[in-house]
Order: sequence, then structure tokens, then C-alpha cells
Amino acid sequence: AQKKIAVVIGSLRKDSLNRKLALAIAHLAPEDFTFEHVRIDDLPLYNQDDDGNQAPSVRRLKTEIAAADGVLFVTAEYNRSIPGVLKNALDNASRPYGQSAWAGKPAGVVGVSVGPIGTAAAQQHLRPILAYLDMPTLAQPEVYIQNKEGMFDDKGHIAEGSKQFLQGWVDKYVAWIKTHTGK
Ligand code: FNR
Repeated sequence: AQKKIAVVIGSLRKDSLNRKLALAIAHLAPEDFTFEHVRIDDLPLYNQDDDGNQAPSVRRLKTEIAAADGVLFVTAEYNRSIPGVLKNALDNASRPYGQSAWAGKPAGVVGVSVGPIGTAAAQQHLRPILAYLDMPTLAQPEVYIQNKEGMFDDKGHIAEGSKQFLQGWVDKYVAWIKTHTGK
């Protein structure tokens, strides 16, 4: 059966490297996987007072996550952690208490940055959040990419030198989603 992956990008920037990495992953996935980028740039700042009356954008995000077979987090690193916009999306769709959209959804975490540790610090902060949200998250291999000139072409393909490495991750991720969705 067709598998639908909700892609959450931890960057709002139009020319985001992480958005390009997400496209490159979709290019390497089998045809029975579809990747849909979910919007997080129009969510309100999370406020617990709104739990009983969530904004349409929050309800939309929760519906999209609920309809997905798995989630792919492709995140930038800001000041050695995850960008606030990503944490805000995680918080918004985790509530009201007991009605989290994330629970049980299998996940993968990857990222690209300009720095040499390639979002490793951000990803190490994201993992315990996903564990708390009860998302079984692929542990290995890890994907920490430092951007280099020509890493992504304008059609969203990754450079030849990194393609095999990323393909290895995609194969594991695809198997992970299938294991956790039983299809
Ligand atoms: C950064 N950047 C950055 N890079 C890194 O490797 N470690 C870090 O801690 C930070 N911190 C940081 C903070 C802020 C506020 C900004 C704007 C940037 C640089 C970052 O890797 C670079 O801007 C990437 O291009 C961000 O990812 P996107 O937006 O291209 O997906």
C-alpha cells in the first residue's frame, strides 16, 4: 500500500538547505512513498489557554500528521539546538493533553547545516522530545550533513559524492516505516 510521509522542515527560509535535503530524500525513495511538506510557518505561538479552541492552522497540522504513516524531520541547527519554529510545531500538535497527533508515528531525523557538525547538536536535542512524544525514531544511520558548494542541484538532487550515503539512510527509513505501520 502507498505510504504517506509528513515532512516537517525546521527552517522557514525560502532557500532552506534543509528543504533541499528533504527533496533529495524524496527523490531517493521508492514509488510507493509520497512526501508531503506540512506548513508550520502560520502556526500561532503555542499558548495553553488555546487548548480548547485551537487555531485552524493547528487543527490542519494535526489532521495532516494524523493522516500520515510516518514523519520526517529535516532540521536546521540554531545556536546548538532546534529552531524555535520546530519546537512550536511540536508543542502545538501535541495538545490538548491526550490528543497528541504525534503519538505512535514512526519518525526519522536528518539535517544539514553550514557548520562542520552538520546539525548533530540540534538532532541530539530533538531525539528526547520525540521519545517523550512516543514516536519510534530511527536511530541509525545518522545523517549530519555539512553543506558544500554544489551539494544540491536546482532540481533538488544531492551531489553524487553524498548520494550513496543518503540512499543508505533512505533504505533504512523506508524499512523502519514499513515495520511500524505493518504494511
Ligand atoms: C545558525 N547556523 C548554525 N549552524 C550550525 O551548524 N550550528 C549552529 O548552532 C547554528 N546557529 C545558527 C543560529 C541562527 C539564528 C542562524 C540563522 C543560523 C547556520 C545555519 O546552519 C545556516 O543558516 C543554515 O543554512 C540553516 O538551515 P537552512 O535554513 O538553510 O535550512
